[in-house]
Amino acid sequence: MHFLSPTLFFLAALPLAVYAQSNSTDTDTDTCNPEHNGLATGTLQYNSDCNATTWCNNGVCQNKGCRREEFPLGYPTSSGPLRNKKNITRPDKCPTGMFCPDEGSNCAPILPVGSACQLDRDDECEGPPNFMQLRDTTGHGLNVNGSICLNFVCQWSNVTVGQTCEVQNVGYVAYGSDHQEFVNIVSRDNCQVGLYCDTNSKTCIQQKDFGTSCDADKECLTFNCEPSQTCGKALAEPRHLATWVYVVIAVGIFGGMIGTLIILFFVHGRQRDVDREKRLQYWREQNAFRQNILQMRETARASVFGSPDGASRRGTLFGVATEDSAMPMLTNAAPKGSGLRYYVGEDGSASYENDTENELLVMQTPYEDKKSHHF
Ligand SMILES: *[C@@H]1O[C@H](CO)[C@@H](O)[C@H](O)[C@H]1NC(C)=O
Ligand SMILES: *[C@@H]1O[C@H](CO)[C@@H](O)[C@H](O)[C@H]1NC(C)=O
Ligand SMILES: *[C@@H]1O[C@H](CO)[C@@H](O)[C@H](O)[C@H]1NC(C)=O
Ligand SMILES: *[C@@H]1O[C@H](CO)[C@@H](O)[C@H](O)[C@H]1NC(C)=O
Ligand SMILES: *[C@@H]1O[C@H](CO)[C@@H](O)[C@H](O)[C@H]1NC(C)=O
Repeated sequence: MHFLSPTLFFLAALPLAVYAQSNSTDTDTDTCNPEHNGLATGTLQYNSDCNATTWCNNGVCQNKGCRREEFPLGYPTSSGPLRNKKNITRPDKCPTGMFCPDEGSNCAPILPVGSACQLDRDDECEGPPNFMQLRDTTGHGLNVNGSICLNFVCQWSNVTVGQTCEVQNVGYVAYGSDHQEFVNIVSRDNCQVGLYCDTNSKTCIQQKDFGTSCDADKECLTFNCEPSQTCGKALAEPRHLATWVYVVIAVGIFGGMIGTLIILFFVHGRQRDVDREKRLQYWREQNAFRQNILQMRETARASVFGSPDGASRRGTLFGVATEDSAMPMLTNAAPKGSGLRYYVGEDGSASYENDTENELLVMQTPYEDKKSHHF
């Protein structure tokens, strides 16, 4: 009695609770027509009047009791768009040996061979004793644990070559890249893995090798019948590149690196030539200045101290010797400049004074002279 009264209270309260709930929220989501339970046209997905988190139980939407997906539709996740919604907890997945039906009502034990099952729900069916031999390991979804739900009946994928088999062709509505509708026919059968059920003769036939003519994907071992009606490569097969591609890429990489180095070498070499030319120009300018100053001195000395013959002779000597170096300074060298002239002073020219031999040395080896005097 102590335990019975809460149970009785619960049983009495249940219809009231359902009734109150149906008034409190939108009645469309809480009541449902069981005749509307079924597969949607086109997608063949299970559908009912209830929303994503409930299932239609005799005209009333109830919370689902199990789930198949890791992250099922309609339930909030910690980061999903529903995270601030009502606290709806996800139901659990079903343990091994049980399955969650399409409507999500509750976990049920897997069905023996010959039982009714839901479309393509191979996992609802019990595997054969030799499931290790019959199960599909190709990843193409031919069966689950050796069993297949074919034409809504649990069967085993155990029919061998030449034996009578059963086919289930289901057309799904699919959409092409240009939004055009087309029918995608999925053909399944209960032949063993590696065989297919010929639709006309209804017997199991060995799948065909690469390059053989075909009419449908299922006829090929690779499950890829090309538009040219020959069995093509498996779509999941990784693409292998020829050795020459690697060679070309390697040559491209190293050629690019070495080419860059060579280009830089020549670019810098040209830059060095430009700098050298500037220094040479600078030296010529300095020399011209010096010659000019010496000439001025000679002219001044000649005019001040007399001795016309000596002055004219030496002036002629210097004039001839310096003509080529003095002219550029007066015409084009001086206005253009070398870009290096930062020091033009009388101190620098004074050090050359009266030293003709040193001057000849300077003209022969401009770099050493310039460095020793100005850098
Ligand atoms: C539910 O709504 C109906 C009218 O739509 C009303 O008669 C009934 O009393 C309501 N029930 C509850 C439990 O609020
Ligand atoms: C589904 O309907 C129930 C009430 O029947 C409601 O509590 C729940 O929030 C709804 N779920 C979604 C995802 O709208
Ligand atoms: C949601 O419900 C669970 C238990 O069902 C509880 O542990 C959790 O704190 C609840 N979260 C919020 C945000 O209410
Ligand atoms: C496969 O089927 C066999 C036989 O029914 C069963 O013992 C086994 O647990 C199943 N394996 C899986 C992964 O479901
Ligand atoms: C093949 O599977 C069917 C059920 O689909 C079963 O009735 C039959 O006995 C099996 N045949 C063999 C040889 O195992």
